[in-house]
Amino acid sequence: MCRVCRVAQKSESLRMQYRYLDLRSSQMQKNLRLRSQLVMKMREYLCNVHGFVDVETPTLFKRTPGGAKEFVVPSREPGLFYSLPQSPQQFKQLLMVAGVDRYFQVARCYRDEGSKPDRQPEFTQVDIEMSFVDQAGILSLVEGLLQYSWPAEKGSLKVPFQSMTYDEAMRDYGVDKPDTRFGMKLTDISDVFSSTQIEFLRSALSQSEGSVQAIRVPSGAKLFTGKDLEDLKQAAKSQFGQELSLVLVREDGTLKSPLKKLMPVSVTEDLLRKTAAGPGDLLLLAAGSLHAVRPMLGSLRLKAAQLLEAHGLSVRDPDAFNFLWVVDFPLFLPKEDKPEELESAHHPFTAPQPEDRELLFTEPHKVRGQHYDLVLNGSEIGGGSIRIHKALEQLHVLKNILKEDPALLSHLLEALDSGAPPHGGIALGLDRLVSILVRASSIRDVIAFPKSFRGHDLMSHAPDSVSEEELKPYHISVKWPTDGGREGK
Ligand code: AMO
Repeated sequence: MCRVCRVAQKSESLRMQYRYLDLRSSQMQKNLRLRSQLVMKMREYLCNVHGFVDVETPTLFKRTPGGAKEFVVPSREPGLFYSLPQSPQQFKQLLMVAGVDRYFQVARCYRDEGSKPDRQPEFTQVDIEMSFVDQAGILSLVEGLLQYSWPAEKGSLKVPFQSMTYDEAMRDYGVDKPDTRFGMKLTDISDVFSSTQIEFLRSALSQSEGSVQAIRVPSGAKLFTGKDLEDLKQAAKSQFGQELSLVLVREDGTLKSPLKKLMPVSVTEDLLRKTAAGPGDLLLLAAGSLHAVRPMLGSLRLKAAQLLEAHGLSVRDPDAFNFLWVVDFPLFLPKEDKPEELESAHHPFTAPQPEDRELLFTEPHKVRGQHYDLVLNGSEIGGGSIRIHKALEQLHVLKNILKEDPALLSHLLEALDSGAPPHGGIALGLDRLVSILVRASSIRDVIAFPKSFRGHDLMSHAPDSVSEEELKPYHISVKWPTDGGREGK
């Protein structure tokens, strides 16, 4: 078979190896052209309608504390390295200090965090910053931007978008980026088991923030196979290290569950009433600390939706575009590996909500941030915040709360000290937005030359080796792994 025909039949790695042939396909042509149109309209809206200035910022930069892992770039000076920016965050704030009061850039960003269907090591943001703006101002600018640039063939967008607080999102969906195209929300059923004799439920409820939560999967008992049910339990165990209890409601209304024998009739009735479960439904039950149980059920909710769809049920409308603002995030969250320390929920430059400002000095974990995320069909397609614009407040956050070395950001602190206007902004993940628009299963399908799962360019074989001779000016020598092999070659 010729190379062109093989690429037309394609495995993904073959498509990436001969990308220039793969791009000939009508779908890829459509994706790239739609992306180009969208960006053109966005530029038009920002520059011509709202007076924004398109400013390019450097890609050879230095390490930024907090946030994603950065790629380092050697320099000719011994021991000195650049970093590729994870976003133009600092530069756009510096531009506000510089009096460029409406900045935007279609900016390339770099994050050394591996590749996933919705993540690439290099990706593109529509990056925006404004002076003298509040949260409502940024949200309505973005709504107008998307409405203006939305492709006509995808229907029109209704604004304002739905909005939900972080607490509501976690309570109802178990995640901070809920897919609101379908229900199956989490229900707190702790009350049902408040005087239970079931040991694991009792011990879960006795711990701090202990809770029992459930999701009703409509027709789950009727449609799911034994393997589906086992897959759900396995996912709970392998991805979250937690147990999942299943309660199946038979067509005659009786229950099939290991919990059945342990629940008095009144508890069973209460459970069915509270969860609104009826014949044919399945209940996913989890018990433990809220911090553990919610994210697990949030993830299983999506898995259950996929399984229902695999059995022919229509759960999520593939033509719907459910935009959602998530607001009122906590400013800081406990670090995953060291929960006694705090890290920024967004980034260290996010301002606290004005009424929580005093708590920065007393109970920082209770402070809410002026941070907002834009979610589309369960995918985070944008994030931004109103920024700290006072040098002393920024210093306090960096040094006393995040325990970062403020010297790394002395340029920003000095800039803020020289008089910065109040400012805020947002960055839209362009690749994610376009991939949802064209219903691609991965953002690789809307990027002309993407990287593989392992961050490689399968066409040109980047990253590639450099000889010892070429490395000399950079004062670098390669320490080979003991097995002598080079990964990915
Ligand atoms: P944040 O880190 O939330 O914010 O990024 C903004 C948006 O960029 C997209 N995104 C990605 N897309 C593809 N691959 C990746 N590896 C990747 N990482 C992020 C997401 C995300 O919502 N400077 C701040 C913005 C601001 O505060 O103004 C920032 O970068 O869609």
